[in-house]
Amino acid sequence: MKIGILISGRGSNTVALADAVASGEIPGSEVAVVISDQPSAAGLEKAAERGIETLVIEKAGRKRADHDAEIVAALTERGVELVCLAGYMRLLSPEFVRSFPNRIVNIHPSLLPSFPGLNVQQQAIDHGVKFSGCTVHFVNEDLDAGPIILQRVVEVKDDDTADTLASRILEEEHGAYIEAVRRVVSGRLLVEGRRAIYSSE
Ligand code: GRF
Repeated sequence: MKIGILISGRGSNTVALADAVASGEIPGSEVAVVISDQPSAAGLEKAAERGIETLVIEKAGRKRADHDAEIVAALTERGVELVCLAGYMRLLSPEFVRSFPNRIVNIHPSLLPSFPGLNVQQQAIDHGVKFSGCTVHFVNEDLDAGPIILQRVVEVKDDDTADTLASRILEEEHGAYIEAVRRVVSGRLLVEGRRAIYSSE
């Protein structure tokens, strides 16, 4: 299964996925392309160092649907079947989502449905929750709302700042994303309504 990764920044999840694919941890997969909407995204260089094709497709004053159509075309030309959002800071248009039904996944640094959107580590601290974590989910037309593939939990400590909590969550993100993509690629993950159900052999 050819994977396309969309990023806007640092790219640590991209590195985790690319290295897992290269080491055979996600059997039957290949990272075909990494696309950024930001030319300065650090993840581009990390992908290129690993021999992966990189593209910058900026929005540049266009409508979201037009920008997305160019990205969808680039993915389709390369035979991409699974799109992984990894710190991609734009909402996808309905047309983009419909082009890859149940074939777009995202990682989010909270335990959804708590704290969708942005600055979620600070929101978790401000709310006083004792546990947070990360969620890998399918992308549908609503923000951070598609069927959940898997979640990992981390403790929120009394002296946490948004940064310390974000780094503790990030440590769990990489393994969670690898395992979630492995499940999707395996073909043993079925979506039934709101639920994504995995049958391990
Ligand atoms: C991660 O915290 C991810 O959960 C969120 O954006 C961040 C991306 O980090 N969606 P990186 O670019 O993969 O290092």
